[in-house]
Amino acid sequence: MIGVSLDARSPSVRLAAPAARRRGALRALAALSIAALAAACGRQEPRRPDALVFRHPKLFGDPEPLDRLVGQFERAHGVAVRREALPAASDEQHLFYAINLAAETTEFDVLALDTIWAAEFAQAGWLRDLSAHVSAADERDLFAAPLASVTWRARRYALPWFVDAGLLYYRADLLAAEGLAPPRTWTDLAQAVRRVRVSQPALHGFVWQGKQYEGLVCNALEFIWSHGGDLDAGAPAAVRGLAFMRALVTDGLSPPYVTTLTEEPARVLFGRARALFLRNWPYAWSLLQRAGSEVEGRVGVCPLPHAPGHPAAAALGGWHLGVNAFSRHAAVAEKLAAFLCAAPAQKALALAYGYSAPRRSLYADPELAAAQPFLASLATLLEAARPRPVSPHYVALSQVLQSEFSAVLSGRRAPAGALGAIARARRVLEAV
Ligand code: GLC
Repeated sequence: MIGVSLDARSPSVRLAAPAARRRGALRALAALSIAALAAACGRQEPRRPDALVFRHPKLFGDPEPLDRLVGQFERAHGVAVRREALPAASDEQHLFYAINLAAETTEFDVLALDTIWAAEFAQAGWLRDLSAHVSAADERDLFAAPLASVTWRARRYALPWFVDAGLLYYRADLLAAEGLAPPRTWTDLAQAVRRVRVSQPALHGFVWQGKQYEGLVCNALEFIWSHGGDLDAGAPAAVRGLAFMRALVTDGLSPPYVTTLTEEPARVLFGRARALFLRNWPYAWSLLQRAGSEVEGRVGVCPLPHAPGHPAAAALGGWHLGVNAFSRHAAVAEKLAAFLCAAPAQKALALAYGYSAPRRSLYADPELAAAQPFLASLATLLEAARPRPVSPHYVALSQVLQSEFSAVLSGRRAPAGALGAIARARRVLEAV
């Protein structure tokens, strides 16, 4: 038994087409891919027929803590669970799910969804309604934005698993040596880079996620928001935000190859002591601080800087667990999703992987606070994080955002032109 390959790329999966045509194209593509891959089937390990399959993004860190949690569930429910990891990039996972769920796959039961997909998947009929697993107490405990993003037409189609917000990591030792405080504004950050580079000319200044993919959308929106702008065409603040993004490269504060960086390469560069500042999600903290890391004990974390006179802004990210509407094991699959999204599992995942829990109650937990000293301030940041546009057409809009932001970053497009093209695409999509 096989699933559809991630390599089954096609322009027809660009998701700008009307839903019905899109589903038809995806079904055809999935069927073709299944045929093409059938020959490989014999080489695959046979799947236990009674096993639940749980699909999630690649883990960074020891798989044992997640296996332990899954083992607890297997023993309690007398069912085998098989974990299958997908690549870390959100876009690649979206492609995999869109192809397979449009083909009404039964090959996986529980799936992790990026916070931006729940509306699209719910509207397509790909997810089971999990409202029964969200109690009134959960509603009070969960952060508002992730709860809103699992909600479609007043029903909950997924359960918030962990939540992300953009953060600034800095080399505390290098700033302290210059008598500098963590930067509050982008001007502070630029000045710090220039000061520290006097004695360390080979050090990169600020590394972040500039590759053309979903991560760039989060970073570019943060540049726009932290200059007081939004996606409205031509608004001067949004233009300034995008011009600032481009200037990071032309002024040498970020290396030119920031245009190739996703979360992990940026985290690894910073973790090898090659950069003064890093923009990343909360998960990076435990990897940077783990025993043997080259920057262990030398890292600080704070809110992302902002332009003078404007509030800081972090993009909201995170992952939910949903249940495949075509699952043959729906009842127990729902229980697995609920188990992994309950407070005890979220605490274990926060301790093991630095995944930030979407529950207010866990931010008062002394064990978690000791492991993640920035936790108390994180709760405020996470609650204030700004969502990307919430829409069943988000992924189609994101394709436009990614290419326009990337063109600005590489100097092929002026910020005002990019914002105009984005506004036009939004109008078209809103009319769909
Ligand atoms: C993280 C976030 C997710 C975002 C992605 C972009 O995984 O949790 O919401 O879309 O990064 O790279």
